[in-house]
Amino acid sequence: MSIGIFGGTFDPVHVGHLALAQSAMREVLLDKVVFVPNWIQPFKTGQAVTPGEDRLAMLEKALGPYPNMVIDEVELSHEKVSYTIDTMDYFRNANPNEDLYFLMGADAFFRIEEWKNASRLLREYGFVIGSRPGYEDHQLLVLIKEIQDKYGTRILLLENPLFDVSSTRLRGMAEKGEPLIGLVPRSVAEYIQENKVYNPEKREEEALEGIVGPRRNHILGVVETAMKLAQRYGADIYKARTAALYHDYCKDLDNETTNQYIEEYHLESKYKNQPQLSHGRIAAERVKREQGIVDEEVLDAIRYHTTGRKGMTLLEKIVYLSDTIEPTRDYPGVEKLRALAWVNIDEAVIMAMDQTISHVNQKGMELDIDTVEARDDLRKKIKEKENE
Ligand SMILES: [Fe+2]
Ligand SMILES: [Fe+2]
Repeated sequence: MSIGIFGGTFDPVHVGHLALAQSAMREVLLDKVVFVPNWIQPFKTGQAVTPGEDRLAMLEKALGPYPNMVIDEVELSHEKVSYTIDTMDYFRNANPNEDLYFLMGADAFFRIEEWKNASRLLREYGFVIGSRPGYEDHQLLVLIKEIQDKYGTRILLLENPLFDVSSTRLRGMAEKGEPLIGLVPRSVAEYIQENKVYNPEKREEEALEGIVGPRRNHILGVVETAMKLAQRYGADIYKARTAALYHDYCKDLDNETTNQYIEEYHLESKYKNQPQLSHGRIAAERVKREQGIVDEEVLDAIRYHTTGRKGMTLLEKIVYLSDTIEPTRDYPGVEKLRALAWVNIDEAVIMAMDQTISHVNQKGMELDIDTVEARDDLRKKIKEKENE
């Protein structure tokens, strides 16, 4: 019997996964495909953290109608990051007389030689590859030939191009409440909706878990203000919400921890011993890795909320400003700034930055050149507009 082993996060499982498994059975005559959902180490591997139970439940719904597609929980139950070589060895021990293939998309295959124990993996196991739209067949064929010559690998290439569906995009759509019918099986779409798997309210609960007191009220205040400003100025309110929820993800780091992150993420060394200035930059890196947020606009709004920068996007201005005017803020001039924020966001950002700059100078603290550049850039743009 030929068995295909199909590993992935399946977050969520979608029609592209099912089509790959079906093509593998139809085109290269695999008898069975075993879906192996990865275990994801929370807060470490840089993946989104939809719990294993939910991903498993969605797989069960999706595969229910197909007797030749089954699930194996070996990786989930081990609760540690598994490498393909370990998983394949496990299946070979369990099925010593069967022909085992690893199922994968072409995009991942291009990096196969970087995988753990790649040469043994490629010598001992077969591969079934689905080509993805966007990949030159020629490039793929050259690579396959190279790998075959080098390792003697059995490689079967599927003819049907795969659906260009990505789980990342589906999660984004689900968060916005957009329908997923047609992209995931109906039963999976229903599960997502009923269990609020990718629901923004649930994300809010998770983001705020363990955060109490004034800090919690501050974040909720920024969320509320950012969403209102997004509506007022025509930015994406969901992106505003996500950025606001996570903007202070790394607030209150001590100097030592700050410096460790600066090193780890290759941030500018001027931010050493400056948690006040750098916590936005560190937060952007960490929410990308730990919360699976990949939207660059959202990440930039988090990244630059502490300092601003030249050429700020609307979303960046919204989060920057919301941070300084949210309802729990109380300092001389905040009322004026709040009022201006509704009338002219650029002038409000300039005013907020002027306040920051003079405050920082008074206290003899470190001023980030980005803030000065951001303010001057906005002033220049306003002038240019006036002269038009
Ligand atoms: Fe902050
Ligand atoms: Fe903040």
